[in-house]
Amino acid sequence: SLVIVGTGIMLVGQATLEAVACMRRADALFYHVLDPATEAWLHRLNAAAVSLKDCYAEGKPRQKTYREMTARILAAVRSGLDVCAAFYGHPGVFVNPAHDAIRRARREGFSARMLPGISSEDCLFADLGVDPSDNGCQSFEATDFLASRRRFDPTSGLVLWQVGMLGESSVRAYMSCRSERLRVLAAFLRRHYPTHHPVVLYEAAQFPTCDPMIKRTSLAKLTRQTIMPMTTLYMPPKPARPADRRIVRWFDEAD
Ligand SMILES: C[S@@+](CC[C@H](N)C(=O)[O-])C[C@H]1O[C@@H](n2cnc3c(N)ncnc32)[C@H](O)[C@@H]1O
Repeated sequence: SLVIVGTGIMLVGQATLEAVACMRRADALFYHVLDPATEAWLHRLNAAAVSLKDCYAEGKPRQKTYREMTARILAAVRSGLDVCAAFYGHPGVFVNPAHDAIRRARREGFSARMLPGISSEDCLFADLGVDPSDNGCQSFEATDFLASRRRFDPTSGLVLWQVGMLGESSVRAYMSCRSERLRVLAAFLRRHYPTHHPVVLYEAAQFPTCDPMIKRTSLAKLTRQTIMPMTTLYMPPKPARPADRRIVRWFDEAD
């Protein structure tokens, strides 16, 4: 069997009780997390814990890395073990091998499920005081956002993930968004927002003693920023357009 779980963004405290129980009792525990403290915690939870980090290598296409991760997880499932794979954040949010492993395991007749976890977007809602019920909120992978010329509504919030890896097919040491690509993103956003519209660069805290990194800037100054792989970009909504009065009147209708 296979269970895919998330460890949350912050060390230990954001893993659900259900995820911790699964990680503890698994015959094989694979993991991809970002910091050595979480790694040490996982090894204490389960002595059979094995990192998937070595699937990454500089210059190696990310898709190949993901295929290798899936293959390792599935090989353990096929050998009859109860397997758990843990990914940081929510395991179903921007984690290609998690979805792929579940699809393949099910196709081969194994029981496979995913448990939700706390994603960086969940932390962003909490730290920036954003409630998606107010104006709606759209979430895009940054390269896909540009490449697919995504249509979106600037009067809703906009979350852009992986800006620090804009157009990158692999990992590089000390990676950050290439300045010429950041200029393309800024130019695209300027078609939809005024020049001085606020932009928030956000990094959720990974350790209980740390604060989140919240840098408020403007669209005009976006190209001067260094955007790291762990940064998520948030554009607050433009002022709302007038509401449709026919719909607003529904609130006044008697039952
Ligand atoms: C491969 S995705 C993984 C997302 C993760 N599964 C989650 O649930 O948040 C990597 C992207 O997630 C976002 N991210 C990861 N860690 C973050 C953090 N500590 N603060 C803000 N965003 C983060 C960034 O946009 C980053 O480029």
